[in-house]
Amino acid sequence: MEYNSMRSTILVPFIFALVLVITSVECNSEGDILYSWRVLITDPNNVLQSWDPTLINPCTWFHVTCNSDNSVTRVDLGNAGMSGPLIPQLGSLTNLQHLHVQINNFTGTIPMELGKLTHLIGLGLSQNQLSGPIPSSLGNLRSLRYL
Ligand SMILES: *[C@@H]1O[C@H](CO)[C@@H](O)[C@H](O)[C@H]1NC(C)=O
Repeated sequence: MEYNSMRSTILVPFIFALVLVITSVECNSEGDILYSWRVLITDPNNVLQSWDPTLINPCTWFHVTCNSDNSVTRVDLGNAGMSGPLIPQLGSLTNLQHLHVQINNFTGTIPMELGKLTHLIGLGLSQNQLSGPIPSSLGNLRSLRYL
């Protein structure tokens, strides 16, 4: 009896804490995507220094803008002296309207997953070292106004 009640005294707060951790990780899935991109980017000017994965969401990071639901709507990294790849997971930032990485040294191909970004209005990719075709999936983007 004694043992059981003591065990639940320890276990119940532990389970609550675990649920909190799991929930906050889920809430920051957009931050996780952006941070997983950050670690692949060479950033000699420390433009991404504020991209701190321990914050609850990426909305206070420089060059990131969110809507009132704390979902990312803009990523503005133009002319920042960066190099590295574009990652397919950027296509999972479901509310993204602007992705601007023009005038850098990004390499690799343009991920076809960007075609999932149905709210995209502006996509700035020019003046990089990107290779390969513009994915046909980008043709599905009805709100896209300029490329
Ligand atoms: C791209 O890299 C080259 C070589 O490191 C550098 O000279 C050039 O300034 C870079 N371009 C941009 C836009 O950062």
